[in-house]
Amino acid sequence: MTRVFVFTNHKGGVAKSTSATNIVIGLVGMLRRAGAANPRVLLIDTDSQAHASLVTTGRKDYGAEDSLYTVLAADRQDAPQTLLDCIVRSNWDKDLHVLPASPMLEGAERELMAVAGAPYRLSDPLKAVAPHYAAVVIDTRPSFSLLTEMSLLAATDAIVPIEPRYLETVGLTSVIEKINAVREGWRHPDLRISGILVTKMDGRVRGHQHLLSELKSHTLLGRLLLGVIPRNEAVSYAHQAHQSLFAYSPRASASRAYAQVVTSLVRYLKTKEKA
Ligand SMILES: Nc1ncnc2c1ncn2[C@@H]1O[C@H](COP(=O)(O)OP(=O)(O)OP(=O)(O)O)[C@@H](O)[C@H]1O
Ligand SMILES: [Mg+2]
Repeated sequence: MTRVFVFTNHKGGVAKSTSATNIVIGLVGMLRRAGAANPRVLLIDTDSQAHASLVTTGRKDYGAEDSLYTVLAADRQDAPQTLLDCIVRSNWDKDLHVLPASPMLEGAERELMAVAGAPYRLSDPLKAVAPHYAAVVIDTRPSFSLLTEMSLLAATDAIVPIEPRYLETVGLTSVIEKINAVREGWRHPDLRISGILVTKMDGRVRGHQHLLSELKSHTLLGRLLLGVIPRNEAVSYAHQAHQSLFAYSPRASASRAYAQVVTSLVRYLKTKEKA
């Protein structure tokens, strides 16, 4: 079964999109270097802000005919083909494919509220398409919205990026509760929390160090720590250039940290392949 990673946190600006976009391109590169027969990775952007679509494809003006919106609005039986038709190749790499978001997704939540089975409108067609890929990664919007629920229902692995601040870690509890609620309440036992990613870490800030060591020593959360990404100016320069961090500045501290996360995820994918 292809693993589907969802980057989620209802808190805004915690580096969900930065992490999702850099990790997908990192996965493609590492899988290819490892000689994988199929290194293709699919990025699904569910946020109407479309930041992930913009940096990876150079556009964010997708609409009724060529975006995730199109898939959600399609007839049930046509949805898998519609999903395939809406996928575009990233400018970053031919093996990185993107199902782009659209500003129209803002209204889609309202339109879909009344539709029976609406929460499954991403997971159902994705089941047919995911086997074409080595992994799928979903970037979500900063809210517990219908689209985030749809994303959790389509996922096997939730990764929660957090900033090392007090309120962020309080928020972490509610994200974990939400994920557990989807797993149990929506009967989606395949969904697990596979990682907490600490982002924008500034080792000079005592509060950051304190929170990181608290997290590390926590019995449950400590085991979930997937990586620590340092605060690094190269991140915003890479965004402005619409480049991945690895292409913009492979030796930047954040690039090296994301590369480590990618290594762990590739190892995880291998263990799941064998299972
Ligand atoms: N390691 C980092 N160092 C410095 N700045 C960073 C880092 N990671 C992300 N940023 C910056 O933080 C801001 C928010 O990042 P990003 O858009 O990835 O967060 P997000 O969680 O997707 O936001 P939203 O909730 O709005 O979707 C951006 O301006 C980005 O450039
Ligand atoms: Mg984002």
